Amino acid sequence: MIINLVKNLAILLIKSTIQSTALCNNCQLSTVPNNLPQQTEKIFLDRNLLKILQDGCLSRYPSLRTFSCANNHLRTVEENVFSKSPLIENLNFADNELQNEHKQVAHSLSSLTQLKTLDLSGNGLTEDMVSLLIQNLSSLETLYLSRNAMLRLDESTFKGLHQLKELNAERNLLFEIDGAFDHMRKLERLNLAFNCLPCLVNFEMTQLRVLNASHNSIEWFITNQNINETFQLETLDLSDNLLLFFPFLPLQNHIQNLILSSNLIDFYQGFSNDSSLNWTNSVEYYNLGKNVGNVTADLWSESLHGDLSHVELLDLSENKVKYFPEGFIQQMPCLYWLKLRSNCLQSFSLTPEDLSVTVYELDVSKNRLTELRTRQHSISELNNLTHLNLSANDLQNLPPRIFSSLPSLMTVDLSHNPVGVCNSEEPEYTSSSECVAWSNMVSLKHLYLSDCSIENIPSSAFKGSALTHLELSNNPYLQIKQESLASLSSTLQHLGLGNTGLGDFDFSPYSRLKSLNISKNSISELPASLMSLNLNLLDLRDNMLTTITEEHAAMLAQRLQAVYMNGNAFNCCHLDWFKTFEEYNDINVVDLSEITCLDLNHRWHKVVLFDAVRCGNFNYEESIVWYILLCASVSLSIMGISIIYLLTFKPKMLPRVIKKRCWRPTSY
Ligand SMILES: *[C@@H]1O[C@H](CO)[C@@H](O)[C@H](O)[C@H]1NC(C)=O
Ligand SMILES: *[C@@H]1O[C@H](CO)[C@@H](O)[C@H](O)[C@H]1NC(C)=O
Ligand SMILES: *[C@@H]1O[C@H](CO)[C@@H](O)[C@H](O)[C@H]1NC(C)=O
Ligand SMILES: *[C@@H]1O[C@H](CO)[C@@H](O)[C@H](O)[C@H]1NC(C)=O
Ligand SMILES: *[C@@H]1O[C@H](CO)[C@@H](O)[C@H](O)[C@H]1NC(C)=O
Ligand SMILES: *[C@@H]1O[C@H](CO)[C@@H](O)[C@H](O)[C@H]1NC(C)=O
Ligand SMILES: *[C@@H]1O[C@H](CO)[C@@H](O)[C@H](O)[C@H]1NC(C)=O
Ligand SMILES: *[C@@H]1O[C@H](CO)[C@@H](O)[C@H](O)[C@H]1NC(C)=O
Ligand SMILES: *[C@@H]1O[C@H](CO)[C@@H](O)[C@H](O)[C@H]1NC(C)=O
Repeated sequence: MIINLVKNLAILLIKSTIQSTALCNNCQLSTVPNNLPQQTEKIFLDRNLLKILQDGCLSRYPSLRTFSCANNHLRTVEENVFSKSPLIENLNFADNELQNEHKQVAHSLSSLTQLKTLDLSGNGLTEDMVSLLIQNLSSLETLYLSRNAMLRLDESTFKGLHQLKELNAERNLLFEIDGAFDHMRKLERLNLAFNCLPCLVNFEMTQLRVLNASHNSIEWFITNQNINETFQLETLDLSDNLLLFFPFLPLQNHIQNLILSSNLIDFYQGFSNDSSLNWTNSVEYYNLGKNVGNVTADLWSESLHGDLSHVELLDLSENKVKYFPEGFIQQMPCLYWLKLRSNCLQSFSLTPEDLSVTVYELDVSKNRLTELRTRQHSISELNNLTHLNLSANDLQNLPPRIFSSLPSLMTVDLSHNPVGVCNSEEPEYTSSSECVAWSNMVSLKHLYLSDCSIENIPSSAFKGSALTHLELSNNPYLQIKQESLASLSSTLQHLGLGNTGLGDFDFSPYSRLKSLNISKNSISELPASLMSLNLNLLDLRDNMLTTITEEHAAMLAQRLQAVYMNGNAFNCCHLDWFKTFEEYNDINVVDLSEITCLDLNHRWHKVVLFDAVRCGNFNYEESIVWYILLCASVSLSIMGISIIYLLTFKPKMLPRVIKKRCWRPTSY
């Protein structure tokens, strides 16, 4: 029976002289197939229905090296399952239910003397169960234990794993680690992300190359400063923790990627000078475990940052940084990516003296910058700076030529700062002005100036520049003129003019335009010049369009891939454009279900639900006549029915009423 089943389930066998692989994933199997070639070296049984691996089920396959049984319902693995498969190097039991019978599983594993990689993720294991499961697996090099239930690790947990190079203990409930890795002299990659660790002190794993301790509750990261050895650490991820201080890194290290986003980091040199604050200068850590002495850290000393000379990526996004200590950034001569989004910086120095000339991407968005310090004569030395994000600050006055002196600058985001656009004919090197010049910037391709309170763009503003992407939206008083953008007509591919008080504008010269945003502009008629363009994306939201001529609709539908249209005042009885759009399958009306139209009685309808029959073939006056006729006939019928009712069921009432009304004695 199994033979048939297996045949039907199209097992793919890739035979070669070197190895053969059986892929039986997703096959509804409840046992290991017993009709695979004997020399099979890899068996994949992921996402099947196995509950138990019985003794002998693998004995046919003595050459087996990889056995993967992830995502089944395995509760147990009998003791001698692997006794005839001594060559297994790679075993995957992720996402099963091994917690209850882990003792038996441990016995079965202990015969695997060649095992190098073991995945026990997602099995509800505690640290004691783990400790037993790996007890005799001294050959292990890679161990995955994520999504289990470990609480604390100590020197007994991984006893014997001297060859381990990579350990993943992500998404457990770890709150304490006490000497658990001291004996693992080969450990290079350690992932402790998504646990509950409160601090990492006395860090001394010199051989480690990648440490990921993101998403914990770490307040302190302190290296053992007494170690006179270069740490091999290359990547340190401490993001999403509660760090108050910049981590105290090893004095000598190879850290290239330092990821510290989403913490509470600031620098506190001010405190150490302020004698009116009776603050303690150091903090001591006691009871860090048997092997660890007391650690004393000198809080306000800024020499404790350790060696930053190899850092290429520094991510300090979403912290509390108010300033950088003197010379801090200069300690990183290879810095390429400096990410400082969402901090509290008020001033930033864009000079080669204060910033490494290697910096390629600088993001200082969402700070409180009112000042950007530069030196006009030397700024061009920052010749690797390519992406610059200064959005959402309070920059008001800038040297007008500040950006044109950066030779590699490709992207600038100055959105949400009250800075205007200078006339390129104005004197070039004034120290500071309320506008920035964008002319003659050969490298600049993407410019974001949305919400900059721009009121005017001088006609030569972009002369000599070759922007492909210009975002000007949310400058409601802009009222852009035809000549303002004329010099960009042959290069622009995206133009954002949402909420810019757009009036008449001839788009026909912008022959390369692929994406246009003219939302929120009170446009009542689609500009005819759009028809000459080869647009892929058009945003027409929140305007005053009542309809689109059928000719225009057909042309748009042939070219556009995506269009946004809700928030207009479409006439429900002139929806031919909508039918045209429906006929063309290629166009995607992104907000289709939200588009509304107004009917004859000024009621709103969803365009998709509106039934055109309701518009009828008659005109408005006729419909009023029909309404009156309908009302009259209904009223007449109701009157008739009332009279009949009265006459039929209350015959006595009638005479009395008549009597009262007509024969009441009058008082003379
Ligand atoms: C590991 O090996 C020791 C000594 O051979 C043995 O006593 C113990 O039972 C083994 N552990 C497991 C889980 O099989
Ligand atoms: C650290 O682990 C988290 C969670 O798995 C992951 O998102 C992040 O990319 C890792 N960091 C690095 C530097 O690999
Ligand atoms: C560190 O080691 C180097 C060379 O091994 C030696 O010259 C130096 O004195 C040592 N420093 C300390 C503080 O032990
Ligand atoms: C603190 O004092 C040191 C030397 O005493 C001085 O160099 C530094 O500028 C002072 N820092 C602040 C923030 O006042
Ligand atoms: C500072 O604190 C120490 C210990 O709490 C105390 O002895 C000392 O008098 C305090 N100094 C001042 C200036 O308040
Ligand atoms: C750590 O500090 C505590 C409290 O001061 C002290 O009792 C203990 O002896 C110190 N331990 C070491 C190893 O210095
Ligand atoms: C510029 O930055 C890029 C970023 O990856 C880097 O590859 C390149 O080496 C840098 N160039 C210089 C001259 O530093
Ligand atoms: C600049 O930063 C803001 C906020 O951090 C972000 O929304 C925007 O996409 C960034 N701009 C560019 C061009 O990446
Ligand atoms: C068009 O611009 C408006 C106003 O800035 C913005 O809200 C909208 O998201 C933009 N449309 C697209 C498709 O990006």
